[in-house]
Amino acid sequence: MNEQDRSRVIRTVASTQSEMTEIILPNDTNTLGNLLGGRLMHFIDLTGAMAAYRHSRTHVVTAAMDHIDFIRPVRLGDLLTLKSSVNRAFTSSMEIGVKVWAENTRTGGVVHVASAYLVFVAVDEHGRRQNVPELLPETPDEIRRHADALRRREHRERERARQSRERQATAAQDSSELKH
Ligand SMILES: CC(C)(COP(=O)(O)OP(=O)(O)OC[C@H]1O[C@@H](n2cnc3c(N)ncnc32)[C@H](O)[C@@H]1OP(=O)(O)O)[C@@H](O)C(=O)NCCC(=O)NCCS
Repeated sequence: MNEQDRSRVIRTVASTQSEMTEIILPNDTNTLGNLLGGRLMHFIDLTGAMAAYRHSRTHVVTAAMDHIDFIRPVRLGDLLTLKSSVNRAFTSSMEIGVKVWAENTRTGGVVHVASAYLVFVAVDEHGRRQNVPELLPETPDEIRRHADALRRREHRERERARQSRERQATAAQDSSELKH
């Protein structure tokens, strides 16, 4: 599908829903037998990418992973289930929500352990940005997430602008220090 065709498509949130299940093995854990935070972020990134691929049907890169809540530890031997879907599509970027549950294999008890928001950007094989299809939220929850995603984007944009100003100020200071 070329970019022009892609930006004319409208997809539902349901068509982007993705899921992954992992068994937590010793290599995934710290010395207390709990899942490592970095490993959990890796699983979140992968599950987020699946929804982004389903929405964009092109290459995607992770632009940002913000707001992760690690609510409860995940134990060695637990079954980890991650679910993702696109909350909102912008021009070339998409906000994805990922929710994670752990299941104790002996008791069958399931607990919510983490949630995260990620931004993926659609790119072509040369890394050039690509427009993504529009997303149509249908259910009340999808409509609420769609509205919340816009507020989070505005917050991210302000933060990016602030960081960019800070980098410029630091670069100017470094170059004046070098000259003296
Ligand atoms: C993400 C990336 C493609 C953005 O490229 P860029 O030229 O800096 O982007 P722009 O400022 O023109 O913004 C392009 C889009 O990305 C979004 N974006 C860029 N940086 C972002 C950030 N830090 N957080 C959220 N969104 C971001 C912009 O909002 C914009 O979205 P829109 O087209 O829907 O309006 C580029 O920074 C990159 O390649 N980063 C490295 C990605 C990577 O290696 N990820 C890890 C491995 S997959």
